[in-house]
Amino acid sequence: MNITIHSGNWEELDVDALAVPLAKGSTVDAALDARLGGLPGELIDTGEFTGKAGACTLIHRVPDSAVKRVFLIGLGEAPMARHWFAAAGQAVRAAAKAKCRSVALLLPPDACARLAAEGAGFGQHRPSGYKEQKPWPVEEVILLTTGDQSIADAGRITAECVNLARELVEIPANDLGPEEFATRAAREGEAAGLEVEVLDENDLRELGAGALLAVGQGSVRPPRMVRLSWNPEDPVNDDHLFLVGKGITFDTGGLSLKPANSMEKMKYDMGGAATMIGAITAIGRLQPRVRVTCLLAMAENMPSGTATRPGDIITAMNGKTIEVINTDAEGRLVLADALTYANRLGATHIINAATLTGAVSVALGSVRVALLGNHKSLGDGIALRGRECGERYWPLPMDADYLEPMRGDMSDLRNAGADRKAGTITAAKFLEQFVEGTPWAHLDIAGTAWFDKAQPNAGKGASGIAVRTLVRLAEGWGS
Ligand code: BES
Ligand code: MN
Ligand code: ZN
Repeated sequence: MNITIHSGNWEELDVDALAVPLAKGSTVDAALDARLGGLPGELIDTGEFTGKAGACTLIHRVPDSAVKRVFLIGLGEAPMARHWFAAAGQAVRAAAKAKCRSVALLLPPDACARLAAEGAGFGQHRPSGYKEQKPWPVEEVILLTTGDQSIADAGRITAECVNLARELVEIPANDLGPEEFATRAAREGEAAGLEVEVLDENDLRELGAGALLAVGQGSVRPPRMVRLSWNPEDPVNDDHLFLVGKGITFDTGGLSLKPANSMEKMKYDMGGAATMIGAITAIGRLQPRVRVTCLLAMAENMPSGTATRPGDIITAMNGKTIEVINTDAEGRLVLADALTYANRLGATHIINAATLTGAVSVALGSVRVALLGNHKSLGDGIALRGRECGERYWPLPMDADYLEPMRGDMSDLRNAGADRKAGTITAAKFLEQFVEGTPWAHLDIAGTAWFDKAQPNAGKGASGIAVRTLVRLAEGWGS
């Protein structure tokens, strides 16, 4: 799907469809309204189209033109980045449904072409590989606005990498265990021009990655750690940003087995790693002037005769001992070693993403990503980049008191508290014990990595949350 910018008039184009994003209370461009015999104005006056976010009203044909469909798309009352992003995706999906080959988006002259291009690309994603599908009909998306083509290209590349993250999350665990995941991550990393390293179980043993190995030991599919590095020729400073991802290819809970209905979705438990793969491959292709390394901790959490038992005491890579109270609190264990490894490799800043706790859905639902950490300006930077691209974050507190439930009786730490209170925060306090004071932010994406129902701009499935934020953060690093 090509995404181009055209700063002229839609009448100059030969397109199948026109999409017109409209805020509540605004009107259609007068020339277009006239060409449609005043129909859009009438639809608005009668309240048939209100501009409500996610609304889409279809008009058939513009007389004496090639245009077969016009979509009026609601932006809501006070359109923000996420509304523009969503409207672009919705337009592309509506065009595809109507079997249009090309669609032009009527945007304001100063519109954010980057966001619209990202949104359009995002709208193209469909689950793939397991069900027969008709070919995708939309070949051309034209953004009617000002701006250089390179902006649309960056948006398209970013969206392709978001969609890679989504595709990876949607692959079922029978086809994506740690080894397959590592191989695929390495392949994608190479294609994006990154330095690639895959550590197998023997390498991990040598490194003393006792926590990652303990999580993986119940599975016949051994753990992996993957490193993907972007080394720019001319970095703005000496910073080295690390992107660390939880890559549990399936989370049964281990011997602390999950009930069936809580287990169903757990192929998505590598969503943090998928997000980081999306971000680092976009970074490799867009080449921002900051050093970035991605570390992916991959394991399958299974119950078996070789599985870690509740009560087992394990030793993490940094030498800290951890009593495994609950084998279902495995994400923090694999991340513990990846965070230690990030520091060993010289991290100056660390961001990790993980589908870490069910509690984050209780706190924030599927609306916002929980943002925790030890460094105010890093967290603020993430939230700011999120606002710019329409991904929402919310900070949670990190008082020292929240570490108390995680202190061990017989070990340095325990991986779960006695109750579920503040589960998202206590998990983050556990992670903090492995960052060695390096500026660090933790994104708990358990509530936001998966759309439980179809959205105007996406089907049911993986959301690719946080990829776009992290790409922007890297692009703007040092400014
Ligand atoms: N992958 C889950 C987090 C999760 C749970 C996501 C439910 C979506 C829905 C994680 O590994 C987990 O199981 N966390 C436990 C931790 C608890 C045992 C301390 C949880 O949140 O219940
Ligand atoms: Mn778990
Ligand atoms: Zn998990």
